[in-house]
Amino acid sequence: MSDMQTDKKAKIELDGKVFELPIIEGMEGEKAIDIRSLRAQTGYITLDSGYMNTGSCRSGITFLDGERGILQYRGYAIEELAEHCTFVEVAYLLVHGNLPTPAQLRNFSEMLGRFAMIHEDMVHFFDRFPPYASPMSILSSMVNSLCNFYPEMTENPLDNIDAMAARLLSKVRTIAAFSYKKTMGHPVVYPRHDLSYCANFLNMMFDSPVAPYEINDKVVAALNKLLILHGDHEQNCSTSTVRLVGSARVNLYASISAGISALWGPLHGGANQAVMEMLETIHAEGGGYRKFIEKAKDPNDPFRLVGFGHRVYKTHDPRSRILKQASEDVLASMNVVDDPLLEIAKELEEVALRDDYFIERNLYPNVDFYSGIIYRAMGIPANMFTVMFALGRLPGWIAHWMEMWNDPDTRIGRPRQIYVGPQLKPFVPMAERTGNE
Ligand code: CMC
Repeated sequence: MSDMQTDKKAKIELDGKVFELPIIEGMEGEKAIDIRSLRAQTGYITLDSGYMNTGSCRSGITFLDGERGILQYRGYAIEELAEHCTFVEVAYLLVHGNLPTPAQLRNFSEMLGRFAMIHEDMVHFFDRFPPYASPMSILSSMVNSLCNFYPEMTENPLDNIDAMAARLLSKVRTIAAFSYKKTMGHPVVYPRHDLSYCANFLNMMFDSPVAPYEINDKVVAALNKLLILHGDHEQNCSTSTVRLVGSARVNLYASISAGISALWGPLHGGANQAVMEMLETIHAEGGGYRKFIEKAKDPNDPFRLVGFGHRVYKTHDPRSRILKQASEDVLASMNVVDDPLLEIAKELEEVALRDDYFIERNLYPNVDFYSGIIYRAMGIPANMFTVMFALGRLPGWIAHWMEMWNDPDTRIGRPRQIYVGPQLKPFVPMAERTGNE
């Protein structure tokens, strides 16, 4: 991982003195002021809630340019990866830094097949969750529990990266499918060595003792594309969580379990489920989406048009463009002729993109806007959408955790604060307290 140290310095004037801070440039021309010595030099810290303007690390995994709508994994354009690769190839790319050769891919795929089972004792865990349990809560708990069953992977995490990544990618897929079966009250379907990664997942989800599942190549291809598009997105909330938790030197499973919890939130990965619920509500109310646009624009209404807006993309989200096309292709290939929710989604997008409120704030459809339509056509229920996001994001989380672990600059993540609470006051003994202290 390299960046360009420049000779340039930022000058900052505080309390009548001028201080110099180094300037760092990234490979694509991004510029940063290195403020690590600021407090030691000046006594000041920086305040940046939501980390809107704070770089937390140097990273060589994903490049994202929100102004130009560019997304690249390890130097490859997302459009090309989504067009030509399987999810397993892209997972390998994210974790290892290079696209696999045929031999590397065979080896990695063989490991994915070999590690697909989870310890049978863990299968019983599923029985203890109530039937209405959220699959995200089950996933997060199960991934955390993995460290007890596979402790060898927590001791020397970087000794065998291949096996570590393959184990997690394979087992999380099995856990995701089992959690769905359990919420349905159906028997789990075990993984099959003869199936590809995505076909195996779909089979575990939909095969049943009474109705064997027929694998549809178009559905498998669409799932590959969806997972690839979710593979990584640099320092988003869940990835930053994985890195922050991991910076305390806790194991990979615990770090990723924390990332899954962050992803669950409706402002982050949980938005894909929320989009579908919003579209269903609009449909149930007769398709009158304008009311929802007005609610989203009302400063006194907390409602937001879910699936719109992004912290970083300010022109378009390249992933949502690919998904819009893919949603039409998948629906056509599955003979879904008129999906009313797809029609509402398209109309909503058109209206929002012409509305000054959305234009002024650069609010465009994000990755969550169209993904749910495709998942729904595949038969995946809305409460599993965020689990699907987690499955796709997993290689990114693993790659970031490893990069963080290896980086000599990594210190335990520990932000500072500006204290705004009460100043020191005398302690009040119990007998003298009025409740108004
Ligand atoms: N609908 C209506 N208004 C919005 C929306 C929206 N979806 N998103 C942002 N705004 C307004 C917001 O009210 C604010 O207006 P004003 O300047 O008048 O106060 C302005 O746009 C800036 O919003 P912000 O909340 O300061 O922006 P942010 O960068 O902190 O938040 C976001 C980004 C994605 C959380 C936000 O756009 C949002 O809540 N979107 C809806 C939820 C969603 O789709 N999340 C998925 C994000 S993409 C995938 C992922 O990360 O997992």
